[in-house]
Amino acid sequence: MKKLYIETYGCQMNFADSEVVASILKDTFDLTKTIEEADLILINTCSIRDKAEQRIHKRLTELEALKKHHHGLQIGLLGCMAERMKEELLATEPVLDFIAGPDAYRSLPELIEKSSEGETQFNVLLSTDETYDDVMPVRYDTNGISAYISIMRGCNNFCSYCVVPYTRGRERSRDPKTILAEAEDLIQKGFKEVTLLGQNVNSYHWQENGVTVSFARLMEMVAQLSPTLRVRFATSHPKDISDELLETMARYDNICKYIHLPVQSGSNQVLKKMNRVYTREYYLERVRKIRELMPDCAISTDIIAGFCGETLEDHLQTLSIMREVGYEYAYMFKYSERGGTMSAKRFKDDIPDEEKTRRLEEIIALQGELSHESNLRDVGKTFTILVEGVSKRSPEYLYGRNSQNKVIIFPKENHQIGEYIEVTVTRCTPATLFA
Ligand code: 5AD
Ligand code: SF4
Repeated sequence: MKKLYIETYGCQMNFADSEVVASILKDTFDLTKTIEEADLILINTCSIRDKAEQRIHKRLTELEALKKHHHGLQIGLLGCMAERMKEELLATEPVLDFIAGPDAYRSLPELIEKSSEGETQFNVLLSTDETYDDVMPVRYDTNGISAYISIMRGCNNFCSYCVVPYTRGRERSRDPKTILAEAEDLIQKGFKEVTLLGQNVNSYHWQENGVTVSFARLMEMVAQLSPTLRVRFATSHPKDISDELLETMARYDNICKYIHLPVQSGSNQVLKKMNRVYTREYYLERVRKIRELMPDCAISTDIIAGFCGETLEDHLQTLSIMREVGYEYAYMFKYSERGGTMSAKRFKDDIPDEEKTRRLEEIIALQGELSHESNLRDVGKTFTILVEGVSKRSPEYLYGRNSQNKVIIFPKENHQIGEYIEVTVTRCTPATLFA
């Protein structure tokens, strides 16, 4: 059989998609981890920021050299960049044999076949109903413990800075029966943790024969499959973080007490321009509700520094909301203008790069303090952790994660990967807990 090598960039959704792709091609290609022996290389790309795209261009240049030495090697580009810049890629990246957007993966066998005859192929059609619901993903890069389950695709929110609604199309939910079957299959295979994935999971919505399944209900059904299966989810939009969802999370021990709740900015004026459709006050009220129902729940966030027209006062508001919430963790970015988005069309990208960097550095420094404070609060506490692997620093140590998604490192002794154990945190660094 021919050999397939997949390289994935970007978000968790892309990693889940690569598993779908591996499944679609499994009858014709065996997966390999050695790029030199591949007959087909697939690059699953991300367009979220300019930096992500630059990295891919660089990678494609490197692959050109490989292609010269390997007669018959095919290279295909998948994902968001395919969608966003098909024309440009076709014109400037002759190394590519074919291009396939996120909803076009079922056509991969055909694209591969046709492009092997010489002409570059593409399919970037977006669909309103494709969810790959009948494709059982091939878990090829796995610890055998944690897996993603994609439950919905696309996005209808149109945050003004964001390219996702254009690259991944409209929101659509997957049939809950197929989600439960996939979770059941993972349990049978010994997996201990699933993360329900979507660009905006709490917009999940399924209706059949007059019965509606909300995201909260779906998560409950997954949690009920087994008390020893941990359930996580990502990502939620603050506008949809309903009481029903929080109450369901609080009710089940095996639903992890961790919410990734991207705030983006702490300033109402900026939030409005970003089309986030919530205010600072609404967001803080949701955080209050989370704390009321789940005092031990960890919250992480995404923050963008230097959005169009962001004043110093707006920036200070971002720092103050970070302090007010006391995030456990944050993903922090400089605003990067994306062609075709609302903000690219309507607003000027007017914060100089040095100033964006300065603001981002302040945000990163503050988050460092907040994460450290949060870790210090955990010293002395006992957590149930799921053992996930061997510590990178020493084979004598293992690491696991607590419900709050924090990594804890502890001596190996007789413990096994995949076990649940109780550990007491004895010390911490700003980034890590030790037990
Ligand atoms: N520039 C910078 N960051 C962005 N994000 C999305 N679009 C952009 C952009 N144009 C960030 C947001 C989002 C995360 C996945 O990436 O914070 O939540
Ligand atoms: Fe990147 Fe967004 Fe596409 Fe994920 S959905 S790969 S984050 S652009």
